[in-house]
Amino acid sequence: RPVSTQGFSLEPSAKPTAESVLASILENPGFGRYFTDHMAHIRWTEADGWHGHQVRPYGPLTLDPAASVLHYAQEIFEGIKAYRHADGSVWTFRPEKNAARFRTSARRLALPELSDEDFLGAIKALVTQDRTWVPTPASEAEESSLYLRPFMIASEAFLGVRPSKEVDFYVIASPVAAYFKGGVKPVSIWLSSNYKRASPGGTGAAKCGGNYAASLLAQKEAAEHGCDQVAFLDAVENTWIEELGGMNLFFVTKDGRLVTPRLTGTILEGVTRDSLLTLAKEEGLTPEERPISIDEWRDGVASGEITEVFACGTAAVITPIGKLVSENGTIEHPEGNQVAARLRKRLLDIQYGRAEDTHGWLTRL
Ligand code: COI
Repeated sequence: RPVSTQGFSLEPSAKPTAESVLASILENPGFGRYFTDHMAHIRWTEADGWHGHQVRPYGPLTLDPAASVLHYAQEIFEGIKAYRHADGSVWTFRPEKNAARFRTSARRLALPELSDEDFLGAIKALVTQDRTWVPTPASEAEESSLYLRPFMIASEAFLGVRPSKEVDFYVIASPVAAYFKGGVKPVSIWLSSNYKRASPGGTGAAKCGGNYAASLLAQKEAAEHGCDQVAFLDAVENTWIEELGGMNLFFVTKDGRLVTPRLTGTILEGVTRDSLLTLAKEEGLTPEERPISIDEWRDGVASGEITEVFACGTAAVITPIGKLVSENGTIEHPEGNQVAARLRKRLLDIQYGRAEDTHGWLTRL
């Protein structure tokens, strides 16, 4: 499916990053620390709709201090990656899913919806301009890519509480390696008992900054307990597993089921989550979306009924969980994580063009 960049004007950076500096960044990018030379921008006003499509030098935004995003958090974002294949070509993975979710998020946050054409066009225009920033993985074990961050903010200067009549959409890009510092080694999870991420009727299914802001104190608590990530239970019964601070959760059972919490409106509909439910069948697993209680997690691991638990997301890909820590103590998870490793390889092989894209998930940029 060709993506058009037509309609985007270009203002090139006057001082692009030197080749030697770029080379050293790409050697060890970390996650979300460095940004490419340009950004894409489209403006929206109630009077004129979306207009002013542009790729321009990356740099600070000028915002009125009264801009409503700064006060009432009217903001949404996306996470999507661009992968370099062995022949040098650059591809992205199921971008239409991100575009659709971005529209759903926009609706929930009373922001204007952006068309697929503009969402994909902005990504393509930016990646076309900053193509040299897409890392070339040194080996199959390395998962470097260009992480794309589309986001939309309410920029009208007005302190009344109502949807903004001026909005800006941007795409920025950051070369990244693994999300967790240790790479794919198992991470530890803190079960939050004091805090909830989302509640029915709230914004849990939208990808808005506010959900992540609400997770930070619990994430801090996780870090204080020596954990990498926090897991949240549902807000009503304090029983059902929802998701981590920024990733979905999967459980592998002894009898070959791949189980993930069903979508309740309080859980983010992850693109990786959806892809794994599809790939599960090809890997001889039975996918299951249903409620999973915290007791099932604890007892299942203890009894051997649950053989693996892993986190997934665009940023983290698939990361095995090594232990669950809560106020009631620690549950160590078995080592091995062979199913997680197999699914991870299958997914990365498709994304990096090493396996046939039988589902039509890749779009060339
Ligand atoms: C992702 O892109 O996977 C996210 O959800 C955002 C964040 C965890 C980096």
